Amino acid sequence: MVGALKYNLSKIMFKKTPKLGYVLVILIFIGSVAILYQIQLIKIQDKLEQIEETQNHYALTVTTEKPLLEEKDLILLYNRVPKTGSTSFVGVAYDLCKKNKFHVLHVNITANSHTVTLENQLKFVQNVTNWKSMKPALYHGHFAFFDFSKYGAPKPLFINLIRKPLDRFISYYYFLRYGDNYRPYLVRKKAGNTMTFDECVLKQLPDCDPNNMWLQIPFFCGHSANCWKPGNKWALTEAKKNLVNNYFLVGVTEELEDFVQILEKSLPRFFKGATEYFQHSNKAHLRQTVQKELPKETTMDKIKSSTVWQMENEFYEFALDQFHFVKKVIARNKGQNVMYEKIRPKS
Ligand SMILES: *[C@@H]1O[C@H](CO)[C@@H](O)[C@H](O)[C@H]1NC(C)=O
Ligand SMILES: *[C@@H]1O[C@H](CO)[C@@H](O)[C@H](O)[C@H]1NC(C)=O
Repeated sequence: MVGALKYNLSKIMFKKTPKLGYVLVILIFIGSVAILYQIQLIKIQDKLEQIEETQNHYALTVTTEKPLLEEKDLILLYNRVPKTGSTSFVGVAYDLCKKNKFHVLHVNITANSHTVTLENQLKFVQNVTNWKSMKPALYHGHFAFFDFSKYGAPKPLFINLIRKPLDRFISYYYFLRYGDNYRPYLVRKKAGNTMTFDECVLKQLPDCDPNNMWLQIPFFCGHSANCWKPGNKWALTEAKKNLVNNYFLVGVTEELEDFVQILEKSLPRFFKGATEYFQHSNKAHLRQTVQKELPKETTMDKIKSSTVWQMENEFYEFALDQFHFVKKVIARNKGQNVMYEKIRPKS
């Protein structure tokens, strides 16, 4: 086509002004070449884009850059329930941390609130997860459970202790009035109030309202609205689920030494030497509420007839059963090894 066109044009032009004809032929030739180049360039650009796109698709691979559970990165989270002997246990951790090379950090929440705002949950999860120089670490504080995986972070190993709900309640009642031998100089909220627990129950005062016993369930249930409604059945179910699925170990105050022993066996990176230390230091009896009178039978009966006590007690029994099961599995499997065999194909 181009050639034919060139020929015709030259024929016409040659007669009148041969020079102009030549110029036109050359111009047309250059124009054609330029168009061909343009077409080639567009093709090359398309190819490049195609290559770029395929580079942006990644095949599934597994890298070993970030192992999920390296011992040196372990994070323990102890969201301690008040008046369960947690101070004695944390004391052991503080005394061992230097020797066993881990950090212990107290999480102080304004006004001792047990619930944490969304903003602070996110900040806390990010901080704990990214703070390399603190790892391995044990964080402890009086706050209800929340799920790290909700924020895209690896779950820490949660641990906790719970106590018979009425004992805990009475201990708290007297603690507010008389303090303890741990910080005897602190003036407590109800200091000077000498009313016994029996009297309080008899007069049906708010301080000994069974609804105030609703604490261990919400601590394990977490940050859902139902968790904090005394007597809510969903909360009890959720607390049990979390205890089993999201806690590494939950002990009971009444068997604190066994709790320490199991932790030493299962997490020696933190608790090597803890049992020995616990037995021979005075930590086991460190913190005792100063004045505690045993309540009368009638008082106990009255409290135990409440829905909240019954549910809290059910939760305690559930935790106790689980803890005993963990102990049994350990006792039954002394010297247990887990190993691989029959690895095929042989290399
Ligand atoms: C938590 O921080 C507040 C404010 O700084 C302080 O008054 C309080 O004593 C701290 N709590 C504990 C248990 O150290
Ligand atoms: C975590 O918070 C502490 C206290 O504010 C800060 O010193 C530290 O740098 C934070 N770590 C990270 C990784 O954000």
